Amino acid sequence: MANGNGNGNGNGAIIRMSGIRKVYDTGKIMVEALTGIDLEIEKGQMVAIVGPSGSGKSTLMNLLGCLDTPTSGDYALGGQNVSGVSRDQLAEIRNRRVGFIFQNFNLLPHISALENVEMPMLFGGVPVRERHQRAGELLARVGLGDRLDHKPTELSGGQMQRVAIARALAMNPDIVLADEPTGNLDSTAGSDIMSLFTELWQQGRTMIIITHDPALARRASRVVEIRDGRIVHDQVAAA
Ligand SMILES: Nc1ncnc2c1ncn2[C@@H]1O[C@H](COP(=O)(O)OP(=O)(O)O)[C@@H](O)[C@H]1O
Ligand SMILES: [Mg+2]
Repeated sequence: MANGNGNGNGNGAIIRMSGIRKVYDTGKIMVEALTGIDLEIEKGQMVAIVGPSGSGKSTLMNLLGCLDTPTSGDYALGGQNVSGVSRDQLAEIRNRRVGFIFQNFNLLPHISALENVEMPMLFGGVPVRERHQRAGELLARVGLGDRLDHKPTELSGGQMQRVAIARALAMNPDIVLADEPTGNLDSTAGSDIMSLFTELWQQGRTMIIITHDPALARRASRVVEIRDGRIVHDQVAAA
């Protein structure tokens, strides 16, 4: 495969979706969650995806992050067509190119913050010493240099989300995807997390953030609004 270094292909869209449909077949009924998404995202954009509950935001995030495959349509991530690849290949692409942040943090509860951040590197085959060192550096970068050995249950919500952000950065991904990242945080912790996202974006990361939070959406360079499985608004903020 041509793109071995995980850094996309220079200029141009890091994400290219065209005609993406997703139909869930529950056995009884078919739910058409996405009805035809055309979306291009440039490297270095910070995109907020907004829309009412049930509009298809999480479905879109799962497709963007290669956690799921579309019913039809084309998707290229970093110049690599991911529409037709096998499950194993998809998992490999996901681990290397995408960092995820979820509303519920999704940390492993019985291992330390450091070990949680190391997890993607373990799957990615990074040698143990490098893993330790990088995990420590990332936790220091999100302000948790003194919490390496704490388990998630010994941390506040805001601190848990910081661990999740450090973990999302572990494999130096092309894109960071966050699904309602401040949904379970109080306003102070939420605003700290927003500042951290802005910082990551200013360092050149491509950030895609699903949010109900108007304050978070306002920080984005572009706001994409979804309704009933389609994009109804797409606005780039004035520079
Ligand atoms: N695994 C699933 N099986 C069946 N229907 C689903 C599944 N996931 C989501 N849906 C349906 O797809 C639609 C979009 O859901 P979702 O993407 O979670 O929306 P949002 O994140 O905007 O709230 C909803 O009607 C939801 O009920
Ligand atoms: Mg959702």
